[in-house]
Amino acid sequence: MRKTSTRLRLAGGLAALLLSVGAPVAQADENEPPTLAELAQRHGRYFGSATDNPELTDEPYKAVLGTEFDMITPGNGMKWYATEPQQGVFDFSQGDEIVNLARANHQRVRGHTLVWHSQLPGWLTSRAWTADELRAVLKKHIQTEVRHYKGKIYAWDVVNEAFNEDGTYRETIFYKTLGPGYIADALRWAHQADPKAKLYLNDYNVEGTGPKSDAYYQLVKELKAQGVPVHGFGLQAHLALQYGYPGTLEDNLRRFSRLGLDTALTEVDVRMYVPADDAKLATQAEWYRDMTEACLAVRRCVGITLWDYTDKYSWIPAFFDGEGAALPWDEQLRPKPAYFAIREALG
Ligand code: G3I
Repeated sequence: MRKTSTRLRLAGGLAALLLSVGAPVAQADENEPPTLAELAQRHGRYFGSATDNPELTDEPYKAVLGTEFDMITPGNGMKWYATEPQQGVFDFSQGDEIVNLARANHQRVRGHTLVWHSQLPGWLTSRAWTADELRAVLKKHIQTEVRHYKGKIYAWDVVNEAFNEDGTYRETIFYKTLGPGYIADALRWAHQADPKAKLYLNDYNVEGTGPKSDAYYQLVKELKAQGVPVHGFGLQAHLALQYGYPGTLEDNLRRFSRLGLDTALTEVDVRMYVPADDAKLATQAEWYRDMTEACLAVRRCVGITLWDYTDKYSWIPAFFDGEGAALPWDEQLRPKPAYFAIREALG
């Protein structure tokens, strides 16, 4: 979907600069360079960013979010703690705000996430449930949320982070109470509620082949054989310079494609120890280029989403001591070498 010629089209740092000094907003110009989204669309792909509600008061930030990308993921606003803070009491205000913004900007939305062991509300984690009780709670949560957003969500991360590093099931409240069948149930319930949404399993450290991505490969094979509605595998791609680039990414994407699945890079960032320097930023740029090229090389890799686009709002510094600088735009919303590397890969 190419955007209308009248929309705001400003490149990263320029947007920040112009808006912060109150200069007139630049209008579309056919001579302006294409956005990441437009470049990706030429390959039949999307290029997206996560965002979070508190960031939406930042106008220069919003200007880039609204123009450079064609897919948006709410970073927190659709999670269980936000959407069902009390049992049976639903609050879709945060997700709605992001969906409405995305629609105004002609962007699609990835829904994130229905079943995850983290960021659960206290009422769910603070007591014991029988299998029948928890099954009913899970079904109601999934179906109420998916129905609320029916027709507005391109793809749901239905189950997030279900496996351990060694390929065994993560011992979540859902697994421990319901057994591994909770995954098939969750997919079926989501499909009933919005038959057109693509349904994904999503995880980190599954970019390369190995025990964890092998576990997904086996699971998807089984789910497919049982006729369970599963349409995509999301590779979060939270990479770190100190751990090396996952050289088997392209092969891994391809084997999931061969199972008849879409794949997507869903939460991309490449962190490093700070301060950043030219060498680290150059390596980071190469990794962004390589990831983009890997996705373009595999027909059913449908798109790439950054886990927010600017270091200003990255989750990394709060979670990894001494690390950061993980995204293609810096804290002042200026494009970094990684941004230009992505453009080259898409161009
Ligand atoms: O909402 C409270 C706020 O009331 C309080 O004032 C503030 C003080 O710290 O915390 C706020 O909650 C934070 C929440 O994000 C919303 O901003 C939590 O502390 C913080 O832990 C939480 O972090 C999120 C993280 O998931 C939790 O695991 C990140 O923003 C979010 O980007 C991150 O996203 C996950 C994906 O969902 C799944 N894959 C991994 C990825 C990175 O962890």
